[in-house]
Amino acid sequence: MDYKELYRIADKAKENAYVPYSHFQVGAALLTEGGAVYTGVNVENASYGATICAERTAFVKAISEGERNFHAIAIASSGGEALPCGICRQFMYEFCPQIDVITGKDENSLRTQPLSALLPEGFRLETE
Ligand code: THU
Repeated sequence: MDYKELYRIADKAKENAYVPYSHFQVGAALLTEGGAVYTGVNVENASYGATICAERTAFVKAISEGERNFHAIAIASSGGEALPCGICRQFMYEFCPQIDVITGKDENSLRTQPLSALLPEGFRLETE
């Protein structure tokens, strides 16, 4: 699947965002190494800190289904180019520091960057 198509899936997914507070819809489409796609949206909460971003929603869905290897994530929003927040960068870094992150205000102005460029020297716990 090409990245433009992945972005289109993210853009469509954002319609399901639950955003009564910010009215800022975000959709994510996460492509696994095996070619599966998991979508995610931001889900807000009256206790604002309980909000989850679209990127983490997509990852949690995929990880819950047993996925561990990720190739790319596209992010679309209702308000122009949206780059992943710091928490999402660290969350994704756990699984795939080199994942391609695709962003842009529309499908004709996409940028692709490895997560390692967005989060240099991210934290990993060495367990062995
Ligand atoms: N948000 C995301 O879902 N992903 C991002 O990359 C940036 C921010 C959400 C969180 C909140 O629901 C809304 O956008 C405004 O911050």
